[in-house]
Amino acid sequence: MAGTKKVAVIGFGNIGSGVVELLYQKGVAGLELARVVDIDLKKKRAVDLPASYLTTDWRQVVNDPEIDIVVELIGGIEPARSILLAAMQNGKDVVTANKRLLAQAGHRVFQLASTLNRRVGFRASFVGCHSLIHEFRQAGTAAKKFRRIYAVLNGTSNYILSTMTREAKGFEEALREAQAKGYAEADPSDDIDGIDTANKIRILLGLISNSYQAVAPFPVEGIRAITLQDIQYATELGYAVKLVGVIEPEEGVFNVAVHPSLVPQVSLLGSLQGAYNGIELEDEYGIVSGLVAPGAGTYPTADAVIKDLLDIAEGRALPMPGSAQELTLGSTEAVERRYYLRFSVVDQAGVLARITDIFWKYHISLAAVIQKEAVSREFVPLVMTTHLAKEGNLQAAIEKVDKLDVVKAKTKIIRILKADT
Ligand SMILES: NC(=O)c1ccc[n+]([C@@H]2O[C@H](COP(=O)([O-])OP(=O)(O)OC[C@H]3O[C@@H](n4cnc5c(N)ncnc54)[C@H](OP(=O)(O)O)[C@@H]3O)[C@@H](O)[C@H]2O)c1
Repeated sequence: MAGTKKVAVIGFGNIGSGVVELLYQKGVAGLELARVVDIDLKKKRAVDLPASYLTTDWRQVVNDPEIDIVVELIGGIEPARSILLAAMQNGKDVVTANKRLLAQAGHRVFQLASTLNRRVGFRASFVGCHSLIHEFRQAGTAAKKFRRIYAVLNGTSNYILSTMTREAKGFEEALREAQAKGYAEADPSDDIDGIDTANKIRILLGLISNSYQAVAPFPVEGIRAITLQDIQYATELGYAVKLVGVIEPEEGVFNVAVHPSLVPQVSLLGSLQGAYNGIELEDEYGIVSGLVAPGAGTYPTADAVIKDLLDIAEGRALPMPGSAQELTLGSTEAVERRYYLRFSVVDQAGVLARITDIFWKYHISLAAVIQKEAVSREFVPLVMTTHLAKEGNLQAAIEKVDKLDVVKAKTKIIRILKADT
């Protein structure tokens, strides 16, 4: 077919097989599968391909003048970065699902694309919310279009937290169940420590700010320390616990963080079950829109790759960060949030007054207090939620509270994310 683009897929694993299946078995108008690269050609794949398509050497396709678009689906930093850079230098457009690479080396990739006028498709690197890519990009050209983005971007963490909530299981048990069902890897650190969410948030930040500059590290906290007790208190208070990536533009800077958060049970994020991802965007008029979608898996990810390939084949511009403008992150101490606090205190009169006395000095006021009867002689949980308070003040107050002789363990702090506070 005239104008058909020749596509090479590098990495014949989970996602690569899905893309090959769609291109080769199902067929996509305007796109022709030309080569497939993988280091292991003996492994049985989901799709049988004639040997003539296959090679183990990515340089062959990157240097092949017949190939128009290179799809990188091997993951990791190297040789993935070299593949993308060399393909663009050789006149090709590229598509990738590699969130780790784009979070760490996106500035190199997008800078070269900008210099050489090449297109980089990367919807599949934040597959759970990729269909909003044009809106994210618009935010990059119309300053302060969004007030906030709150996003649940990691299916493994959401599966664990929603299992803990629904089945009253502890963290370890819910993690083992997620691993047994294939929702968590043998080493789940990237997912449960918030790193995968942070990688996707960096990619979104690039789109929203229209800048491919590397950003300074921002606070990232995972879900390992979330207990069933916290989830049950949160439920009692009308909240669900979720791992949330936050981007809030504010007076020329971006407040960015990833942390476990209490979100209203009745909100879009609060209702997310299992491995689903979700995103809430509030625009400058206070209008909240959102999206729920699978955040991983062969077909959703392969579909996102195909969308990028079609945009390239049909000559549409691909949304991508296009400037070298410095990105400034806001100061964490100045961010105002509401907080859920769980103190471990001795069961005696006057404890609450001593804590609120410290809070008063740091301009922190309470919204709710829950205290149950003592279950242990050593300490009793005392749960509070606060009205809006500055993070710096809250941290300073908790440092003081934790030094009180009536406080027996480090206070648990979880941020509350609520649209109207
Ligand atoms: N899985 C998902 O749901 C999902 C969702 C969104 C984004 N992604 C991203 O998509 C990418 C691919 O993920 P995946 O799940 O498909 O991984 P995968 O199943 O491990 O596939 C990667 C494939 O690339 C091959 N490979 C590794 N190094 C290579 C090299 N130097 N040259 C040629 N082939 C090489 C691997 O071979 P060996 O197995 O023999 O090492 C493997 O077959 C990653 O960046 C991932 O973050 C995945």
